[in-house]
Amino acid sequence: MISPFKSPIYVTRPVFPDLAAYTAQLNEIWESSQLTNNGMQHKRLEGELAEYLGTSHLKLFSNGTLALLLGLKALELKGEVITTPFTFPATVQCLDWNQLTPVFCDIDPVTLNIDADKIESLITEQTSAILAVHVFGNPCDVEKIQKIADKHNLRVIYDGAHAFGTKINGKPINQYGDMTMYSFHATKLFNTVEGGALAFKEAHLGQTLELLKNFGLQDAEHVVLPGLNAKMNELQAAMGREVLKIVETERAKRHELKKTYEAELHGIPGIRIVTSMEGPNSSYQYFVIEVDQDRYGRTRDDLFNQLAAYQVFPRKYFYPLCSDFPWYRRLESAQPENLPLAGKSVHQVLSMPFYGELGMEAVKKICGILRELQVEKKELLNYRK
Ligand SMILES: Cc1ncc(COP(=O)(O)O)c(C=O)c1O
Repeated sequence: MISPFKSPIYVTRPVFPDLAAYTAQLNEIWESSQLTNNGMQHKRLEGELAEYLGTSHLKLFSNGTLALLLGLKALELKGEVITTPFTFPATVQCLDWNQLTPVFCDIDPVTLNIDADKIESLITEQTSAILAVHVFGNPCDVEKIQKIADKHNLRVIYDGAHAFGTKINGKPINQYGDMTMYSFHATKLFNTVEGGALAFKEAHLGQTLELLKNFGLQDAEHVVLPGLNAKMNELQAAMGREVLKIVETERAKRHELKKTYEAELHGIPGIRIVTSMEGPNSSYQYFVIEVDQDRYGRTRDDLFNQLAAYQVFPRKYFYPLCSDFPWYRRLESAQPENLPLAGKSVHQVLSMPFYGELGMEAVKKICGILRELQVEKKELLNYRK
């Protein structure tokens, strides 16, 4: 038996910039006497990120959830929004906070994104938008989604929390749809500790978003919109500016780890690699596998439990399905029989440890463990008796 790791291996580890470099930024903040409210660091990061992400319209927020929540608000959506049940709770919770009703659409069994072919049949008179998620950085079928939206006069919003730097045939992913949200949470490839951004198509939305993230304050004496506090502060922005300098190095490391995972997992029956994107097109945010019980000989949950004995702690992203949250159970679109593929994948996915510091040898060992834990057909017969 392969020996367990000496210390726990988690799904990710935050990217930390050089401490001296960050301290130099802190010195500047101290000298400026400004900690928040659109300070120097904030302005610089906004410009640097707009360039990196290939957009001319970008606003920063204190986290990705508030970015999405206020982005939906700025679009003044009403009624129903077609979305995916296979996502992080924040995606659909942002609909709740905007008094919008989610209409859950089943997913594509390969990319695990919303199945664009199933969207049209869910459109009603009340539908105002499609909120799709580039799950694990795999892009949605953006062309098909846009065609449907154009035909029915719907807005398209992308939750791109996993898609930092993702491109589609060389084109930045935020150039599709009306709006793309990014999350800069500590667990993401690019982080500002907590943080987020919106890239958007229509320039005029910039003003509305500025107001919404700052209590709707037009000036010291005029409140013109029901806003919130969703501003990114100077310490977060400075962190982001330093992490941005090393993000390409981190991507290069993850590229090598992904290749190692792929080579080492090759030929293990019942293990499918979900995250397929490569090179400049990929966000290298996650490395996700699917476990087919019939061929692997164990369920995903059994594998997950077994891995703990080796000190390997992957995550069951995204379990449970959002459509199973108690307050959606009454919705017709949330019924399990309407979401068979999402219902299947949610019991098969496993997000494996994936971060630059992990190193090649650890990846090889994890794959060795996955191979060791596979139950051979012969054994399987005994195992099931
Ligand atoms: C798909 C998705 N959407 C939204 C969020 C929320 O982003 P944040 O944590 O920055 O609020 C996350 C995770 O963090 C996510 O994975």
